[in-house]
This record gives sequence, C-alpha cells and structure tokens, in this order.
Amino acid sequence: MIGAFHQRFGPTPQPRVFRAPGRVNLIGEHTDYNLGFVLPVALDLATYIAAAPSPDGKLRIYSEDRQQLREFDASSLGAAEPTHEWTDYPVGVARELVRAGVPVAGANLLIRSTVPDGAGLSSSAALEVSSALALLAGREFDPLELAKLCQRAERNFVGMPCGIMDQYISVFGRAHSAVEIDCRNFGHRLVNLPGGITFIAVNTMVKHALSGSAYRDRVRECAAAVEGIATVFPDVRSLRDVSPEQFAGVASRLPEVVARRARHVVTEDARVNRFVEASTLGDVAGMGKLMLESHRSLQHDYEVSCAELDFLVDAALALDGVYGSRMTGGGFGGCTVTLLRSDAAASFRAGVARAYHQQYGVTPRIYSCEPSEGAGEVKKLETIPSLA
Ligand code: GLA
Repeated sequence: MIGAFHQRFGPTPQPRVFRAPGRVNLIGEHTDYNLGFVLPVALDLATYIAAAPSPDGKLRIYSEDRQQLREFDASSLGAAEPTHEWTDYPVGVARELVRAGVPVAGANLLIRSTVPDGAGLSSSAALEVSSALALLAGREFDPLELAKLCQRAERNFVGMPCGIMDQYISVFGRAHSAVEIDCRNFGHRLVNLPGGITFIAVNTMVKHALSGSAYRDRVRECAAAVEGIATVFPDVRSLRDVSPEQFAGVASRLPEVVARRARHVVTEDARVNRFVEASTLGDVAGMGKLMLESHRSLQHDYEVSCAELDFLVDAALALDGVYGSRMTGGGFGGCTVTLLRSDAAASFRAGVARAYHQQYGVTPRIYSCEPSEGAGEVKKLETIPSLA
C-alpha cells in the first residue's frame, strides 16, 4: 500500500496507515436510534487509509476501488457542501473535525477497502472512522467523541439519520468478543461467545432502492410511537423506556402500523439481553432461536426485510449445523448472519451458495465473521491486504 501511495502521490513524506473495520450485527436491529441495545462484532474486513501531509494546502483523496482522485482546499473544509458521491464521507468527517475545533491541514490520502459496499456490513462507518484517524494523523481524540463525530458526519452531511452502532463498533470492536452497546448512555460490555460455533454472513448481492427512504420512515414511525405512548406514560422519551408489559397496555391506542414498528423495537431490546444471557451460559440453541425471532419480527412487524433475505434465512435453517439466522444491518438487501457449528461451515457455504444460485441465478459472496479489533494505526504494514 505504501508503494501504491508513492506511485500515486510521488516522493512525499512516508505515509502512516490507519484502519477501521466494518461490522456484522448479531442481534439488536433498528434499536440504536431508539436508544436501546445492539450486539455487533467488528470484522476483519476493513478500510485502510495511507496518509501523509501535503505542503500545498490541498486535501487529495484517491479511492483505489473507484479509481478516482478528488481534490479539496483544506482551508475551506469547514464550509464544505455535500456532492452526493463517496467523498461525502471523508469530507463530512473533515467538516465535523474543523467544527469541533480540530484544524485539518493539506494531506494526501489513499483509500483501500475490503468491506463490500452496500452489503449491510457498514462500509460507510469504516470509511468515516478511518478518514477521521487519517485526518487526525496521530493527534489525540477521545474514542467515544470520535464515534459520535463520525455519526454526525453521516447524519448532517451525508443526510442519513443513522444511530450510533456502526461508528461505535468500528472504534470499540474487540478480537474474540461481541460488544453489547447501550445506545442511551454509550457504555458497552464485551460478550464472550461460546466455543465450537461460528457466524457467517451471506450477501444477497442486492440493495433495494427503498433502503434510504424506508429507514427515514422507520425513524419517523418510532417517533410517532413515542409520542403516542407518552400520552399514557409521560416519562417515556424513547422506545428504550418502554417495557414489554407497558407496551401491551398501550398498543391498541396506537395506529396499527406504528404499533407493529414499536413492538419490534421493544421486543428486540429484550431479545438482545436474552441473547447475551444465552451466550454467557453457552446456550447456543437459545441464541439461534432468538436470532430467528429477530428476523421474523423484522420481516413482519418492522418490514425491512426482502424476498432475497427471507430466502437466505430459510435456506440456512434447512442446512446441517445451523442454530439460527437473520438479516443484519438496515435491511432491504445486504447480508444475513447465520450461527452454526464451526465444523459445519464448509458444507454450509457450499449448500447456501447452491440454494441461492438455484433460486436467483446469482452466486452470493460469503464472509466468515471473525471478531476483530476496532480502529487504529496499522503498525505491521505486512498485515494490510493487497489490492484485490
Ligand atoms: C444501519 C444504521 C445503524 C442501524 C442499523 C439497523 O446500519 O447505520 O445505525 O440503525 O442500520 O440496526
């Protein structure tokens, strides 16, 4: 990557390389912006950025994937406007840094990513967090503030009203562990996963156009649910504050669709806590059952699944060694995540690929979800993957 950097930018100072991972969420979907619980793991799929100062006051960003070079005046990044292309992520982060009082100087950046785009594995957050580290270039910044700053870039600049999960796990991911995040107080705890099992993500290879607008609709529907519930329980500020028992008492007062959205969120929060308990007890069958319940709730109550995701879940459940399966991420395409016996992984990969190809004529890409470390500077440059 250092060679590629010098080829692109010439004999500049030696670049430093920063890495931020994508994620797969095991359970707790569409709960983060309702201030509830999520349980993601950071992946070894990641975005790498090689960065070195440039003396001419320009911020140059080259994307190897897109083979595009873009140039900005570092001095005007605080007033940057979105252009609706991939550079909105790094430029949005630069603008938030400047607004947070962190000057951004001219620099050359070369981006290499192994996180597939649009697959529900959080390529956006990986790009935001790696951009923030590259622009900070080693300056100290509180990790939680860094995650929040990247979320602000996505909300305010890219225009996607996302929760905190993706940026948080990209910063705080840990090898060998899942991370339970409390999206109200921004605390987390590491969750041990039982031995002998593995998680595998299977990519539908589709991203339906609906995903952005439906996400906004769900955010609004959840706000409407809170408003309705607060007329009975005035202390309720978010769906996180609503217990399943309280919800049962007020559901009939809400419009039917709003009630189903809220039921998903309230029951999903409870499922995250039960999943963590099951994981701690080594109850793999219980974990799998909760994943399937989560999927059915997303499919029928929250309505963010799609035919391809439902097909992959059902196909997975029919295969040997599988305990549970669900869609992961925002929905309307992207990936499923399946919990299975490690020794059944090879036959699962072959079986699910065959079934999906038979149904849709497309070979799904399949990723093993090895829990990995969160973002940081890469010291061992030999660990950076070469260009695919
Ligand atoms: C996207 C958002 C996250 C979260 C998930 C759904 O990935 O970026 O904040 O809301 O969808 O759980």
